[in-house]
Amino acid sequence: MTILVAGGAGYIGSHFLRCLVDRGVPAVVIDDLSAGFADAVPEGIPLVRCEIGDREAVRHVLEEHAPEAVVDFAGLIQVGESVQAPDRYYGVNVGQTLALLDEMVRAGVRSFVFSSSAAVYGNPIRVPIDEDHPKDPINPYGATKRIVEMAALDYGHAFGLRVACLRYFNAAGAHPDGTLSERHDPETHLIPLAIDAGLGRRGELVVFGDDWPTPDGTCVRDYIHVVDLAEAHWLALKNLGEGAGPLLLNLGTGEGYSVRQVMDTVGDVVGTPVPHRVGPRRAGDPPSLVASAKRAQDVLGWKASRSDLKTIVEDAVRSRVG
Ligand code: UFG
Repeated sequence: MTILVAGGAGYIGSHFLRCLVDRGVPAVVIDDLSAGFADAVPEGIPLVRCEIGDREAVRHVLEEHAPEAVVDFAGLIQVGESVQAPDRYYGVNVGQTLALLDEMVRAGVRSFVFSSSAAVYGNPIRVPIDEDHPKDPINPYGATKRIVEMAALDYGHAFGLRVACLRYFNAAGAHPDGTLSERHDPETHLIPLAIDAGLGRRGELVVFGDDWPTPDGTCVRDYIHVVDLAEAHWLALKNLGEGAGPLLLNLGTGEGYSVRQVMDTVGDVVGTPVPHRVGPRRAGDPPSLVASAKRAQDVLGWKASRSDLKTIVEDAVRSRVG
């Protein structure tokens, strides 16, 4: 059984590839390397450099490798940028993903696992957020994820494609062996920014508001270790292979940490307090986003095992200092 991994050279995709390699599962990667790195793809796994919307190239890969499943990590991921450039976000995250779905169906691919996001829920009306919470995205990024979820479900129904949409909360950390890391450019995520500030590699961290309605006034998020995320994809694939689906699952821990708690943990791990100042709130930030992780636990038998904040930060620091 070969798995086509779209966006396999990126942060989460490359961790998933490691999970496949560890299990001896053959894979092929498509990635346009706009945000990914060829050296993140393990040796021996073919990497085809193309966009997921390049129908001819994708068709060729599907014909040559006849994958049983596609796991799709490809796409644009910045909430703020999506507000400025919705055309790019709809073009890539919706238009190109629909082209990929068309080609998959044409080639007879059986299963599709899609990287969705907690951003599909918008501003939570209850926390923890379960999968039945209303889906009301507040930015184009979240809207594109929701649109593809709905399209994939419809394709599944009409064409017999087995579908899993995995809604990530805050992906963080890195492989414990230190060889893979979060390499976004520009980096906008809290944990790598706090680590780099703590290590003196950049100026002080700006905390986006400390007057939120949360216990210490800073925003609360559900940080999930990228290795746990990768494992959940593998379990979802296995489930689909056994005939399950469609699956719509949150991937989080059910536990929230504030920006201040993250800074304190980073300070403990790097051995010096994180230099910071409090700035204004960032537009579009909900005060608290915490998953109900029960459904993934029940359906997949999955439970995050590396996602306590200290382990996440330790693994992230190891990957950044090399
Ligand atoms: N934060 C700061 N200072 C920074 C960066 C972040 O205070 O320099 C705060 C943010 O305000 C937020 C928290 O740290 O409260 C986490 O911010 P991130 O940017 O790391 O992550 P987000 O929660 O904004 O976004 C993540 C994913 C998105 C996804 C979203 C789901 O990166 O792709 O969760 O809601 F859409």
